[in-house]
Amino acid sequence: MKLDLYPTKFLAMLKIVFQSRLTDEDVAFIREYLTKQEQILFYALTALDQRHSLNTAYAIQEWLGKKPKVRPDKLYKAALLHDIGKARAKLRLIDRVNQVLLFTFCPPLANYLADRGAVDHRGYWRRILYTYKYHPRLGANLAKSIRVEDSVIYLIENHHLPESTDEPRELSLLREADQLN
Ligand SMILES: [Fe+2]
Ligand SMILES: [Fe+2]
Repeated sequence: MKLDLYPTKFLAMLKIVFQSRLTDEDVAFIREYLTKQEQILFYALTALDQRHSLNTAYAIQEWLGKKPKVRPDKLYKAALLHDIGKARAKLRLIDRVNQVLLFTFCPPLANYLADRGAVDHRGYWRRILYTYKYHPRLGANLAKSIRVEDSVIYLIENHHLPESTDEPRELSLLREADQLN
């Protein structure tokens, strides 16, 4: 994560703490874009990650407006499911703050511990840093296991890749909405 994104990410975290309860509109949105099996994955996320994922989807919805040039249903689904890999370790708010701090201020150590960790590692740092670093791949594997569309799996798996000029527009939109929410 870039240093200049740190305050934005931190503010977004604070915001979702105060609005993590799902509304009737949220539930209707989730039902509209996710199958029953996909909803099970979504609800396995912590309340904070559910709110973050919904806010990511709503930001994309706002940007697309009424006449989207990309297929919104797949994009909303990807936004709702993009962080499901985090559900493997049930990251709490404090874990989220800790990993942002370590990856921001000491990336070599964060990467060293993450690369030697696992979702069920006994060591706290190796568990949370591994899950954070590899959640796109973990999430893509979960999505594959319930046969989510390949285009959605692609977005889940690549949502933390650095921007590239030849990437699909959907991936750019998802990355930007994710970073702001
Ligand atoms: Fe993510
Ligand atoms: Fe995210």
